[in-house]
Amino acid sequence: MASNRKVMVLPGDGIGVEVMAANMTVMEWLAKHKSLSFDVAQDQVGGAAYDAYGVPLRDETLADAIAADAVLFGAVGGPQYDDLDFSLKPERGLLALRKEMDLFANLRPAIVFDALAEASTLKPEIVSGLNIMILRELCGGSYFAEPRGIDELPDGQKKGYDTNAYSTSEIERIGRVAFELARKRDGRVTSVEKSNVMMSGVLWRDVMNALHKAEGGDVALSHMYADNCAMQLVRNPRQFDVIVTDNLFGDLLSDCAAMLTGSLGMLPSASLGAPDPDTGLPKAMYEPVHGSAPDIAGQNLANPLAQFLSFAMMLRYSFGQGEEADLVEAAVADTLASGKRTGDIMAPGCEQVGTDGMTEAVIDAMNRRAR
Ligand code: IPM
Ligand code: MN
Repeated sequence: MASNRKVMVLPGDGIGVEVMAANMTVMEWLAKHKSLSFDVAQDQVGGAAYDAYGVPLRDETLADAIAADAVLFGAVGGPQYDDLDFSLKPERGLLALRKEMDLFANLRPAIVFDALAEASTLKPEIVSGLNIMILRELCGGSYFAEPRGIDELPDGQKKGYDTNAYSTSEIERIGRVAFELARKRDGRVTSVEKSNVMMSGVLWRDVMNALHKAEGGDVALSHMYADNCAMQLVRNPRQFDVIVTDNLFGDLLSDCAAMLTGSLGMLPSASLGAPDPDTGLPKAMYEPVHGSAPDIAGQNLANPLAQFLSFAMMLRYSFGQGEEADLVEAAVADTLASGKRTGDIMAPGCEQVGTDGMTEAVIDAMNRRAR
């Protein structure tokens, strides 16, 4: 059946391919049992696109992604691409999508499922019940700001450099998203930078304070240096509600937060742009945080749950299907409660399953809940 929900599916490389195939099963289930269908177009990105077309992202793929209502992304990268020219590396495909679609707000929720409190490398009493949101700025800072490069110096050395720059408007727009998120949660925002060392951090803090004064009176804003935040995330992560930070700090802190949840294989993300003036919907891409994990790719070992949870975020943020998003998330929780585990979250007394087994278990749980 034709659908007006246009989804661009980009599995990419490594385990991205397997977890996306698993996610298709979930999408098919929703079409069959909830009459919720999608108009799916699929294409290559990253190393797979390089292999097929010689570039990590084709112009037509980018155009299709921009035209879609939402992009569902797997993962990119692999050791076979290590020696490629920087501009052709698989990651450039992902970064180009983020930049060209202007997906500046990257939501990375770190939630500890009850059944997984034991799977974290931290003590269960530190992480159980954890529910924090890391909001990472995704289109600026040291990932994109100019100048950047590798120059030859007169003495024959080379100099490699990046720039961490943020303008007032770039900080304001991510700050606004942080306040909006906090309003739907516990109402607290921690803004993270290094204003003790970096000028971009000084401006970041000033702009956050001014924005808070002008628009954020109903939200509690506090500030933290990024190094302290890394420490606090492993010391007492539940002190946070929304953490808003720049592109590079957000990259580091979200990996750290992922491990609180038991495994990098559990963390979903949504990358959102500004709302479209006509539809009110943002450009959006949904992506598990875990990456392509080439060491376990193609062996039916990958944990598909972060992909399912990313898909649930798509249902909620791009299609307003909160009920179905709840269903997918509840089925994931049921599956974990039943003791099924992929290797990355395996615990004593649990049953180890592969990508297939985990997917079947989630589908079973959806069937049970839909009855
Ligand atoms: C992430 C990844 C990417 C990043 C890589 C693959 C370019 O680590 O989404 O966190 O650094 O942003
Ligand atoms: Mn990362």
